[in-house]
Amino acid sequence: NSTAVQAAGRFGFTPVGVATDATVHVPEGYTWDILVKWGDKLFSDAADFDHVTGGDLATSDRVFGENTDGMELFAIGDKQIIAVNSEYVNPKLNLPQNQDGKPTSADDVLKLQNLQGVTVMEVAEEGGDWHVVVDSPFNRRITHNTPMKISGPAAGHDLLKTDADPSGTESLGTYNNCGAGKTPWGTYLTCEENFNGYFGSTDADLELPADFKRYGIGVESRYDYEKFDARFDISKNINEPRRAGYIVEIDPANPDATPVKRTALGRFKHENAACTVARDGRVIVYMGDDERGEFLYKFVSNGVYVPGASTDGLLDEGTLYVAKFSDDGNGEWLALTEETTGMSQAEICIYSRLAASKVGATTMDRPEWVAVNPVAVEAYCALTNNKNRGVKTNAGGDETPVGGPNPREKNNYGQIVRWYPENDDHVSSSFKWDLFVMAGNPDVHGDSPYAGSSNINSGNMFNSPDGMMFDTSGLLWIQTDGDYKNEGDFAGMGNNQMLVGDPATGQIERFMTVPYGAEVTGITWSADKRTLFVGIQHPAAPFPDGEGKLARSCVVAVKRSDNAMIG
Ligand code: FEO
Ligand code: CA
Ligand code: CA
Ligand code: CA
Repeated sequence: NSTAVQAAGRFGFTPVGVATDATVHVPEGYTWDILVKWGDKLFSDAADFDHVTGGDLATSDRVFGENTDGMELFAIGDKQIIAVNSEYVNPKLNLPQNQDGKPTSADDVLKLQNLQGVTVMEVAEEGGDWHVVVDSPFNRRITHNTPMKISGPAAGHDLLKTDADPSGTESLGTYNNCGAGKTPWGTYLTCEENFNGYFGSTDADLELPADFKRYGIGVESRYDYEKFDARFDISKNINEPRRAGYIVEIDPANPDATPVKRTALGRFKHENAACTVARDGRVIVYMGDDERGEFLYKFVSNGVYVPGASTDGLLDEGTLYVAKFSDDGNGEWLALTEETTGMSQAEICIYSRLAASKVGATTMDRPEWVAVNPVAVEAYCALTNNKNRGVKTNAGGDETPVGGPNPREKNNYGQIVRWYPENDDHVSSSFKWDLFVMAGNPDVHGDSPYAGSSNINSGNMFNSPDGMMFDTSGLLWIQTDGDYKNEGDFAGMGNNQMLVGDPATGQIERFMTVPYGAEVTGITWSADKRTLFVGIQHPAAPFPDGEGKLARSCVVAVKRSDNAMIG
């Protein structure tokens, strides 16, 4: 109806209501369909998915991985290739025959390792339906055991050497691949987030080095890898965790190319990598460190990007900065250098959190995705929530007082901070900032700060913004990973959702809801912008295969019924 369409402003859709059910909802006039689910074949020799076993072990590195997350689509000639992360596993689903999904053998561990990492896959549309092109020469799985190169200032440092790799320049695997990014030259950046959880010690009394505490690395691991795979046993390989926590560059056009860990981009719990090119051609990468009270970072390359010219060194040589926000709406990027930190360039790259603490950066409410506006010189970061804000500090971290872009104690809703680089130049070391939105619940909290900012109302409430991406028209797509119980502080918010925000007006409307228990994470567009691909991670609902089947993370394709462009 025309009133509702007008109310949607620039958005071109009628907002959807909240949902608490077990399926996906998109606006009237739009359709959704499954592109790919965890366990679907990338190669015809892989076994069909099996709901009893959680999938075949022998071909577990030849199927789509579990827990889909950040993704990017690449148009290579007339082919469309999606690179997409599989962040972590739910062993109760992957090893359903084991007690609590606990691995009991090296084979069990290998299966979990194979279901994580990155999938590169060709996709194609036929008659409006998208599918994965099985056996495409572009198809590839990158797992916890795939050979990687280590580059940048930390490559070859003693802290990165192991018995298996005395050079400190070659490692195996990429871990907990959360958000992603795309370089201006068409490669994929995958971001290692909660890597700490994969490492443990078979010696419970092992004395841990000081840096392990700040990164959350301890004797207990999340998946018991160390019991069956000595590489993950820190009592045998103390440096192995220092080879994780980086951003990894993957060339989707070359299935044989070795992925490269770019240490110049720092080591922390990397959420995503939002790239842009500054006016003078230098490459900018904005990055969040998703932990309560950690920081927001920016990398500026030394060299400039020239289309068609060599890009060697652009992600290896440059300066890492960390953000400091003042209460008055100003901010600055503090350079992490030998002078400012008293650490070597390699140490800054390996112990980036410690370096950032030395310069007095602002502790944030869990920086998730950063998004750079393609039509205005500004960038946004989702600060998802922080139950410890103002009350408690992380192990080894800095104090987290209330203030600046983190204005609420025990922040249960989250907010999105926006900054405007000085002189409209992403290279600038100073900026102005404001909050694009403070999520909240006006129905429950009246006019306290927990009601949210003025652009939040009963009709668009959400909590815990996480994934974010701009479309080419400059609208901001916001994905949530929050409390979906729909009660108490979260009453009226329903299941996790995807919303669209207009930077110019502040208007935000709900575009999509997902099955209960799932978060929405990962978004990319087809080359013609007529299809929007969206990731649905860890559904608790019996989705998409129905009751009595294992819940499966998946990517859906959303289209307009009239096949018009979406963003
Ligand atoms: Fe993997 Fe911070 O989300
Ligand atoms: Ca996230
Ligand atoms: Ca998540
Ligand atoms: Ca999250």
